[in-house]
Amino acid sequence: MPHYIAPSLLASDFSKIGETCKMLDRSSADYYHLDVMDGVFVPNISFGLPVISAMRPFSEKVFDVHLMIVQPERYIEDFKKAGADILTVHYEASTHLHRTIGAIREAGMEAGVALNPHTPVRLLEDVIADVDLVCLMGVNPGFGGQKFIEHTYAKTRQLREMIDRVGGHAKIEIDGGVNLDNAPLLLQAGADVLVAGSFVFSSENPEATISALKSV
Ligand code: DX5
Ligand code: ZN
Repeated sequence: MPHYIAPSLLASDFSKIGETCKMLDRSSADYYHLDVMDGVFVPNISFGLPVISAMRPFSEKVFDVHLMIVQPERYIEDFKKAGADILTVHYEASTHLHRTIGAIREAGMEAGVALNPHTPVRLLEDVIADVDLVCLMGVNPGFGGQKFIEHTYAKTRQLREMIDRVGGHAKIEIDGGVNLDNAPLLLQAGADVLVAGSFVFSSENPEATISALKSV
């Protein structure tokens, strides 16, 4: 199966957001990975609804919105209106995860669930059949540019096994610390979507780096 590349704009130069959109739309990127942080669930604050709405008319790609916020269920409709196609909430931030997954899908988006590095894959057993995407964090969320946690390979394999066993359709997304060294191993372990922030945007030619990740 071909894999998907989702550059994380967190690592991009926000003063050039229009140019970044043009570059990403002509690149072989599949998704825009948009990291929303509230300063409560994670110790950092990034950007939110108005920025996503402003970018929406400039892109035809899939907007993959990763909510690192508490009580994400309060904002499902707002992110739909802002232009999200995939809305991912954290397992650790969602008390009524089953209901939240249903509400995201009812709103017309794909539903994603993200797991922090300390959260075992097995906790998804009872919802996995209803989930469109699982985002396995390869770092502790909150910041770009951190070192990849090696245990993520084992989690990817466990999750692939669980999805195949229940006949689920969820894509496996890896977020944090992804680069050209670990990308082939992650894909071998069963990943479908690779998020890359600093590896793309700190490189000399982000468009070429996206192509390189896509061709792994
Ligand atoms: C981390 C974010 C990531 C981040 C990845 O909290 O969820 O999407 O931007 O950045 P890199 O690829 O630099 O680890
Ligand atoms: Zn993310």
